[in-house]
Amino acid sequence: MKKVKFYPVKGYIDFQRNAISNIESFWEKEASKLEWFKHWDKVLEWEEPFAKWFVGGMLNASYLCVDKHLYSWHKNKVALYWEDEEGNTKAFSYFQLYREVNRFASMLKNLGVKKGESVVLYLPMIPELPIAMLATARIGAIHTVVFSGFSSKALADRINDTSAEVLITADLGRRRGKFIPLKEIVDEALKVAPTIKKVVVIKRTREDITIEEGRDFLYHELIKDAEDYVEPKPLESNHPLYILYTSGTTGKPKGVVHSTGGYLVYNYATYKWVFNISAESIYWCTADVGWVTGHSSIVYAPLLHGATVLMYEGTPDYPDPGVWWRIIEKYGVTIFYTSPTAIRMFMRYGEKWVKKYDLSSLKILGSVGEPINPEVWEWYYKHIGGERCPIVDTWWQTETGGIMISPAPGLELIPLKPGSATLPLPGIDAEVVDEEGNPVGAGIKGYLVIRNPWPGMLMGLYGDPERYKEVYWSRFQGTYYTGDYAMKDEEGYFWLFGRADEVIKVAGHRLGTAEIESSAVSAPFVAEAAVIGKPDPIKGEAIVVFAILKEGYKPEDNLKKEIINHVREQIGPIATPEEVHFVAKLPKTRSGKIMRRLLKAVIMDKPIGDITTLEDEASIEEVKSVYEEFKQMMKEV
Ligand code: PRX
Repeated sequence: MKKVKFYPVKGYIDFQRNAISNIESFWEKEASKLEWFKHWDKVLEWEEPFAKWFVGGMLNASYLCVDKHLYSWHKNKVALYWEDEEGNTKAFSYFQLYREVNRFASMLKNLGVKKGESVVLYLPMIPELPIAMLATARIGAIHTVVFSGFSSKALADRINDTSAEVLITADLGRRRGKFIPLKEIVDEALKVAPTIKKVVVIKRTREDITIEEGRDFLYHELIKDAEDYVEPKPLESNHPLYILYTSGTTGKPKGVVHSTGGYLVYNYATYKWVFNISAESIYWCTADVGWVTGHSSIVYAPLLHGATVLMYEGTPDYPDPGVWWRIIEKYGVTIFYTSPTAIRMFMRYGEKWVKKYDLSSLKILGSVGEPINPEVWEWYYKHIGGERCPIVDTWWQTETGGIMISPAPGLELIPLKPGSATLPLPGIDAEVVDEEGNPVGAGIKGYLVIRNPWPGMLMGLYGDPERYKEVYWSRFQGTYYTGDYAMKDEEGYFWLFGRADEVIKVAGHRLGTAEIESSAVSAPFVAEAAVIGKPDPIKGEAIVVFAILKEGYKPEDNLKKEIINHVREQIGPIATPEEVHFVAKLPKTRSGKIMRRLLKAVIMDKPIGDITTLEDEASIEEVKSVYEEFKQMMKEV
């Protein structure tokens, strides 16, 4: 640890206190760094829990990410490098990106897309995805990107919530040398998602696809009629930029709505602080654009800063575990942002894959999505960063819109501590509280809350203000509840311990236990199911299903496999259960709520704790014996 570069804490505490007590003037200063078509009338309208930032200000995300760069030397620099797992590449200068975005926007207009309407983007990691997002924003429509690893049910649920009429997809996605039939998945989803009237298909191959006349259109045909220029629509700061669905504690995904002005200001500011990003940066975030990390880190923040973004369509270990390091060497990546799961995987493969490549271009390394264990942090620091690059462990959420707790090398603030996300960024009033909402002392675990509004915060949940209030603002009076466990140490540094609610993180992907349970129960032979996350040395957590079979079915191994395949097909490969166990009864409270806490205690071999609310003690005894048998069997294998 001696070699870790420490940044001086230049009066951080005073600086932070000042920012928090004057949030309006603090964020106003950051907002003036962007170009607005019209200045705002008011910095903040706070009607708890709804915030409106930079009210009356007019701007356009697409203008700021592309057009603005045409008036400087950025015009002919590379905005976007793209590479796939076969080694195919593409590069777009800012001018070329501008052309593509304009033409895409014109196509959307020709399809009849209007300001304020949702457009669903179900696309793999191809340049057309950021182009489609920026084109949608250009005309004031609202993009809803659905991760292309999701399957038809997950896609249909999200479409049905937005009631969108237009969907953009591709014929195929590609993963580890195999093709994923995206258009077929769309066809399946649209059987139960009838609002979609028009589907645009980007054809990447010559493979035949089915076309439904009048509904399906080919992108390369439509784009022929597109104009070269579409005016970027001036939009009020609180016009929604996008909706992004995320898993919560019920089966219904939550449509997190982000604003235009607040979201862009927050990301512009924080990417400078955390990554010290600039037009000289070659920025590579390995997340999929389908997650919030991809929205902020592949599209909006780097392009606002005129950086060069690298987009890679592929996995970390295909064709071999050196592929990411080869890419860093090839493009001279300066900022690299990935997940602890990926780093843990590379640790397992060993340093030999890293040593083959020259990683000396790297300046800053990032980690996101799940807690990073100190030993993984050290490995990342030593073997990837060559003991020169600070690691920014960035804590944030789909809902927060941007990074909230992280070291900030761009501000020359905050020493690094392996395993800790360190301190809240300026203007963010984070705290760890007990059940009653009172701050807990140093070294005590509690719930992470945010006590003031910030520009990147969600505007609400699409079409459901009550759920927004209930999920985030009712647990603790007047504060935003994150759903995470955390602790502060004696120096006030934050340590994150994962979710306190029924949300699990598999390889950094956020999944709701309820969504997986409802999928498991839809298998024809399953009567009831309970899902929990089990610690996994690589993925962070793995999915374990406890299921009750319907009458007439025997607890056989082939049914376990069927449940695994069923969930995988409905939600997607990321939700593939690791283990399935059959029981006759699930542990429930007297009011019928499944006590997942008890299931978790059993599989982790921990004390069961308080069971006064448990309806039937025999249920937990059965779970114990089923699990014991399973462990025994695993030993024998
Ligand atoms: O539990 C926290 C975990 O990821 C959750 C948010 O997931 P999602 O909305 O998918 O966004 C992920 C990427 C922004 C949080 O509630 N999480 C995120 N970053 C960290 C983290 N846990 C520990 N350390 C982090 N750096």
